[in-house]
Amino acid sequence: MLRRCWCEQYRAMTSVRDKLLQELNPGEVVPPRCKVTIVGVGQVGMACAFSILQSGVADDVTLIDVMEDKLQGEVLDLQHGSLFLKTPIIRAAKDYSETANSKLCIITAGVRQKEGETRLNLVHRNVEVFRKIVPLLAQYSPDAILLIVSNPVDVLTYVAWKLSGFPQERVIGSGTNLDSARFRFLMGERLQIHPSSVHGYIIGEHGDSSVAVWSGANVAGVNLQSLSPDLEREQDSEVWPGVHKNVVDSAYEVVRLKGYTSWAIGLSVCSLSQSILRNLRIVHPVSTLVKGLHDIQEEVFLSLPCVLGWPGVCGVLNQPLREHEAYQLKQSAQTLWSVQRELSL
Ligand SMILES: NC(=O)c1ccc[n+]([C@@H]2O[C@H](COP(=O)([O-])OP(=O)(O)OC[C@H]3O[C@@H](n4cnc5c(N)ncnc54)[C@H](O)[C@@H]3O)[C@@H](O)[C@H]2O)c1
Repeated sequence: MLRRCWCEQYRAMTSVRDKLLQELNPGEVVPPRCKVTIVGVGQVGMACAFSILQSGVADDVTLIDVMEDKLQGEVLDLQHGSLFLKTPIIRAAKDYSETANSKLCIITAGVRQKEGETRLNLVHRNVEVFRKIVPLLAQYSPDAILLIVSNPVDVLTYVAWKLSGFPQERVIGSGTNLDSARFRFLMGERLQIHPSSVHGYIIGEHGDSSVAVWSGANVAGVNLQSLSPDLEREQDSEVWPGVHKNVVDSAYEVVRLKGYTSWAIGLSVCSLSQSILRNLRIVHPVSTLVKGLHDIQEEVFLSLPCVLGWPGVCGVLNQPLREHEAYQLKQSAQTLWSVQRELSL
């Protein structure tokens, strides 16, 4: 058979694209390697989406929500910024089949706190939302990691674990990663040092019963408690215990002032996503199954320092805790279990 010259082929082509491009592997489909699905395009979901898009860590960001117009509008708005981003696919999913083969599914759907309302108040409404979401995510992305952000995040991470049937290392709650960021920011503000150089962990419940591990707070290995033994006591002259109170009150304060929290949780979730998708093995305080750790007997999820990587939670640190810190952690576990045992899952 005679080979047609390039000019003839050119004339036979129809579309501008065909005329512009000599494709070497026509029809070849390259599946995404780092597909991230975000469920819920409210204030938190969009802050997560924006941070993740800015980081360039995902090659596909798929958003899904029950509010179709809002979903389409948000996705169009993001797509229009594609020139400035490095994520080739940004899309709105009409149904869960379009979330298939996600590596990471982030759930931000559900109701949020109203002014003065505690996170635990939201539990029954958000469990019903999770019943509609989690089984479908698990069906279409059976190898995904679930990252739970909706509140009360520790209880809902347990709910997602039960509803998905996934192994514990693949169900993670954003937990106290945000509380710890607030803690480090507030300590850094006092010391006039950037938060990245001020180390300290808030563990336990993301909420009112969180535990500040003052015994480990340090800058460049210099333990702050060694400089001021009263650091966590009421009588401390510089009122350092007030820093933890500020952390606990932070979300209430932001909700009072602007109605919701968004940017800091979006950045926090983005940092967790990067550690997982790039297999960075960075230590983050996130909500994980803690039964058997620190003498906790209940099947609950609470935040402890965890190594995050491609498999999800790669390990939990054996963080030495003082007696009262371990006691507070156990109290949180009992509080959460008293809520969880009422749920029929
Ligand atoms: N873990 C944290 O640190 C943290 C921080 C801030 C907020 N939150 C929590 O995140 C959640 C979302 O907060 P927000 O401010 O974005 O609320 P929002 O009201 O702005 O958005 C919630 C979104 O969820 C969607 N939704 C509801 N049911 C759905 C379903 N069945 N399927 C898909 N989408 C559904 C709604 O349509 C809405 O777009 C709340 O529970 C809030 O308390 C957690």
